[in-house]
Amino acid sequence: ITFLFCRLVFQSSTSVWLFSVFIVLLVLNLFHSSPKEREPPGPRGLPLIGNLFQVDLKRLDQNLFNLSKEYGPVFQVSFGPKKVVVLAGYRTVKQALVNHAEEFGSREINPIFHIFNQGHGILFSNGDSWKEMRRFALTTLKDFGMGRKMSEEIIIEECRYLIQEFELFKGTAFKNTQAISYAVSNVISALMFGKRFDYKDPVLQAMVERDNETIHLTGSASIQIYNFIPWLGPFLKNWRDIVKNVEDGKADVRKKIAELKETLDPELCRCFIDAFLLHREHLEDSDTSSSYYHDENLLYSVANLFAAGTDTTATTLKWCLLYMAKFPQVQDRVQEELSRVVGNRQVQTEDRKNLPYTDAVIHESHRMANIAPIAIPHTASKDVSFQGYFIKKGTTVFPLLTSVLYDESEWESPHSFNPSHFLDEEGKFVRRDAFMPFSAGRRACLGESLARMEIFLFLTSLLQHFRFTPSPGVSVDDLDLEPLVGFTLAPKPQKLCAVLRL
Ligand code: HEM
Ligand SMILES: *[C@@H]1O[C@H](CO)[C@@H](O)[C@H](O)[C@H]1NC(C)=O
Ligand SMILES: *[C@@H]1O[C@H](CO)[C@@H](O)[C@H](O)[C@H]1NC(C)=O
Repeated sequence: ITFLFCRLVFQSSTSVWLFSVFIVLLVLNLFHSSPKEREPPGPRGLPLIGNLFQVDLKRLDQNLFNLSKEYGPVFQVSFGPKKVVVLAGYRTVKQALVNHAEEFGSREINPIFHIFNQGHGILFSNGDSWKEMRRFALTTLKDFGMGRKMSEEIIIEECRYLIQEFELFKGTAFKNTQAISYAVSNVISALMFGKRFDYKDPVLQAMVERDNETIHLTGSASIQIYNFIPWLGPFLKNWRDIVKNVEDGKADVRKKIAELKETLDPELCRCFIDAFLLHREHLEDSDTSSSYYHDENLLYSVANLFAAGTDTTATTLKWCLLYMAKFPQVQDRVQEELSRVVGNRQVQTEDRKNLPYTDAVIHESHRMANIAPIAIPHTASKDVSFQGYFIKKGTTVFPLLTSVLYDESEWESPHSFNPSHFLDEEGKFVRRDAFMPFSAGRRACLGESLARMEIFLFLTSLLQHFRFTPSPGVSVDDLDLEPLVGFTLAPKPQKLCAVLRL
């Protein structure tokens, strides 16, 4: 039958010709548009070194944003032998993190991230353990009123301490960095340990100092190089400093956990650690013991919530105050709105919906500050075909948030501070899709609602009391908006005055 069929097909030379064309097209098609064949484009690199000498590690996010204009929204750069796929622009980042959430939703656990967490906790873990710890942290923070009442009371109490601290300077110029970090750290402390610290408490000071240092060191060039030549570690001072910080930090948290264990009362859940311990007891009683509720996961989850919740929020708040001093007309309008809508009483989260201009200023500050410019690196959890390119399982993926928050096709004036990005014609607040400082998808920030509540309450409370201005003799133009680059982008330390308004 086959023979007959073939004879029929090949009867005329036309058929033979057509058949050949068909085969050739099929083969070409297989070789050329098979997704396995096409990797994302990118600058040509040297063997082993890759593009290491072509990229600007000092301002990597800007550099990658520039490269995306040349190579498109999905491109690839090699850091040494390690290939990294960069996702750029709102449309592409959203399509990857939200529409392909599973494939792009794993965390990259490079050598330094492994030193931080040993694969446990929330920030630098994957799989079922990560899923369980993330879920537990989200529900527990919600039970403690993340974005609801209890956290609100904690933050409002802390606002009073922060205002007192600023008042001590009586309007003279000072660096607000430390006080802000302590205030924000205390909010997480209250949630994790059930207590705040005095700003002079050496335990609090050491905790904040360590996290701050670790974050700066992690962004350093030597640690980025260590990540693909791990045996270099012990030879690098930055690496040794990080390891020491991590050990000291763990010792502090272990001590706190031990204290709380001793006084644990099943009738009274005081904090996150209590909730974890009580949940574990409950699981053991009901014989459904989940292997994930072990001491390591507790230790690293607490450490992660601290590290992820302190520096980010504090840095954003510092940017907000710097923008207020830099753009006095904006500060005028926020203060006018606050006086008109709230007056002198304590601001509440509830007030936010009646403060559209203030809300827009906060959103614009998040956008401009862009404190986590490449989010936290992801990895492809399986082979993916994305926008016509093939991305191999295990490839590092950078969701380039800089390119979303400064996307020229999304924002009217991406490079200037312009609260109108979030206001309509009538001055009502409008959400913007490309507002993505907390990233998106299944690895998105889990502290977003707590962070937003903190920024709103701290900033408005401060602005009710103080007017922020540059140091005497420094003009508004001299205030520097160029960031200090680390794992996050922070304002350069600059003194500001907090002048009492009353
Ligand atoms: C202004 C404040 C904050 C900003 C801008 C911010 C931003 C981010 C970003 C960009 C990520 C990475 C998302 C990704 O990998 O795609 C992240 C992750 C995370 N954030 Fe935040 N964050 C803030 C505050 C907080 C707070 C207050 C907490 C804790 C209560 C927190 C806890 C976390 C955790 C645990 C993760 C890891 C999530 C995971 O890997 O599953 N963040 N955050
Ligand atoms: C990115 O491009 C802009 C404009 O061409 C240039 O001024 C800037 O230095 C570049 N930045 C980096 C880090 O490559
Ligand atoms: C964090 O580190 C930077 C640079 O090392 C320093 O300027 C800043 O004051 C530190 N912040 C805190 C809160 O200690």
